[in-house]
Amino acid sequence: MERLYTAVARLEKELAISAILLQDIASRFQEAMNEGLTGGSGSLRMLPSFIGSPTGQEQGQVIAVDFGGTNVRVLLVELAGTGRSRIVARRAFPLKDKLGHYDYTAVSASGPALFDFIAGKISEIVPAGGIYPLGHTFSFPCRQQGGDQAVLISWTKEIKTAGVEGRDVGQMLQAALENRGLDRVRLQAVINDTTGTLLTAAYSDPATTIGAICGTGHNSCYLESCHPLTNRPMIVNMESGNFDGVQQTKYDILLDQASEKPGAQRLEKMVSGQYLGELVRIIISSLTAAGHIASGSESLSVPYSLPTEDISAILGDTSPGLEAVAVVAARWGITQLKVCEYKAIQTISRLVAMRSAWLVAATWAGVLTKIDPGLVRQHTIAVDGALYEKMPGYSEQLANTMMEMFGDKAKQITIRLSKDGSGIGAAIAAATVYKGKYCNER
Ligand code: GLC
Repeated sequence: MERLYTAVARLEKELAISAILLQDIASRFQEAMNEGLTGGSGSLRMLPSFIGSPTGQEQGQVIAVDFGGTNVRVLLVELAGTGRSRIVARRAFPLKDKLGHYDYTAVSASGPALFDFIAGKISEIVPAGGIYPLGHTFSFPCRQQGGDQAVLISWTKEIKTAGVEGRDVGQMLQAALENRGLDRVRLQAVINDTTGTLLTAAYSDPATTIGAICGTGHNSCYLESCHPLTNRPMIVNMESGNFDGVQQTKYDILLDQASEKPGAQRLEKMVSGQYLGELVRIIISSLTAAGHIASGSESLSVPYSLPTEDISAILGDTSPGLEAVAVVAARWGITQLKVCEYKAIQTISRLVAMRSAWLVAATWAGVLTKIDPGLVRQHTIAVDGALYEKMPGYSEQLANTMMEMFGDKAKQITIRLSKDGSGIGAAIAAATVYKGKYCNER
């Protein structure tokens, strides 16, 4: 047992982020932001969105497409013009059929077929008559030259559809709508999901300056008060999951090297839901291999066999005998452990999850110090994603880290959930662009 305690204590040292390190990461993040904004080759792309803040008075019915992974949603959203919105109709559908009837995410599928499929779903929710602005959340790295033009730089999240990389996804969706005779649905804006999250909160809360996703993927955007491209306020999609200013541990290196794109998305691989379970698996495997934890099973050697939901279940276990941890460990093929071994598994899971919150908070601290060095204004950070919403202790750790970093001034910062922000935000983005007084004039 002595050796297990020593091994866990060593892990605590390796994974914990000290107060000094937090400040250091925040400054490095700020440097990378400045470099990205001036066209440097740093790890932050700082992609302009050409969208500013909403006034809260945008009004009317708008179509929204939320395309952030293999499940897509189309919505008919009603913006009340008083900072409130309501979803009038929705369709949610996978791009890949479970029974194998279709797969629009494979390299054998074509871009026009993919967008025709989405246009077909839009046709099911557009009311008869009237013109409908359309906002498209497309949560992949895109180069934008205007609010409605977004060229996909490269697919991520396992999507490989042919003929979309290097093309304007806004134009592709509009063409698909026109082919179906739906030219009264008019694409106004293509945005990232982080931008949608920011816009949804900003519709009713003008203090919103940061939008973020802490879910399967991780990324943040912020409101640049005077963007050099337009000399006006503009939301910038930082693609912060690609930030490379955090020292990797040997476990991060193992995960990265075995991933599809080694070297890419280094912060995302340390903090997002896609990878937290895998990091815990790598660490626990190293303890079982060293004989610190007894395991009679090979299950732990299968990459990505530990879902991040299991980590949530482990962190939520407050029972003295750690029964829930035992249930999860049994699913991984390790049974009959002593309570202290279950405790070690819980400590490791907590360290990995809390490190994620520390790192994310440090990047936000970098943004806040850049846009408001004295923290004289109020700032709302709008967040969506399962990690933020469901991982026990995660949102509290984000808030505590802000307190640790800013002391009393952290009172100026509110971190809050922006549920469904990526869908509703697309509608708000379209409405901010569409200049008709009432969105649905005939
Ligand atoms: C990935 C994408 C990014 C998106 C994030 C959250 O990091 O590159 O655009 O915002 O996932 O969905």
